[in-house]
Amino acid sequence: MKTTGGSEAAKRAAGERAAELVEDGAVVGLGTGSTAAHAIRALGERVGQGLDLRGIPTSYGSADLAREAGIELVTLDDALPDVTIDGADQIAGFDLIKGGGAAHTREKLVDSAAKRFVVVADPSKEVESLDHPVPLEVLPSAREPVSRAVAGLGGEAELRGAERKDGPVVTDNGNLVLDCDFGRIESPAELGDELSAIPGVLEHGLFVGLADDVLVGTDGGVEERR
Ligand code: 5RP
Repeated sequence: MKTTGGSEAAKRAAGERAAELVEDGAVVGLGTGSTAAHAIRALGERVGQGLDLRGIPTSYGSADLAREAGIELVTLDDALPDVTIDGADQIAGFDLIKGGGAAHTREKLVDSAAKRFVVVADPSKEVESLDHPVPLEVLPSAREPVSRAVAGLGGEAELRGAERKDGPVVTDNGNLVLDCDFGRIESPAELGDELSAIPGVLEHGLFVGLADDVLVGTDGGVEERR
């Protein structure tokens, strides 16, 4: 699974703490990325000790990891998550940018369907104001018109993986990802609404007002914000 910057010990501390919060009988949304992976492994260990839980994965990667960990998988058709544990690329207060693993469309679906959405991260993700490029999942045929619409909003769109010999990054849903640099984002909610309105955009990576808890691992423990 893809790993971004930040210490592995801090990611593990946050992921393992989040896994401790899960109660017996819960349905758990399983996020994508290296920090969420620590939570999935820790949940698998608890299942091995007798915890009853079912998981709803947010990507093929998290589904594979969960199966390896011995977690029974279900879908949103079967149940809604009591809690979802997921990582983030950037965090300002309770607003997030996600999609570094190109999974933000399913992540937003599962994270927003949960009664409680717990974000797990290392300290490198925390900022005063969001300024990370915003990933957009776009239909393959919509790449150029969406790029132009993004430019009209003052952003610069870059096709993820454009430089790769084997072709650009393709999401689990068969679409492309445009990473859109808007510099410092003054109003994440407003920008999110504008991006959602562009035809051909399946989902953007701004997660505004969705997080209930932010757990930031450090090398010495976990800081919890609620
Ligand atoms: C995947 C995501 C990840 O949660 C995000 O990229 C953080 O990943 P990591 O925990 O590896 O830093 O949004 O689409």
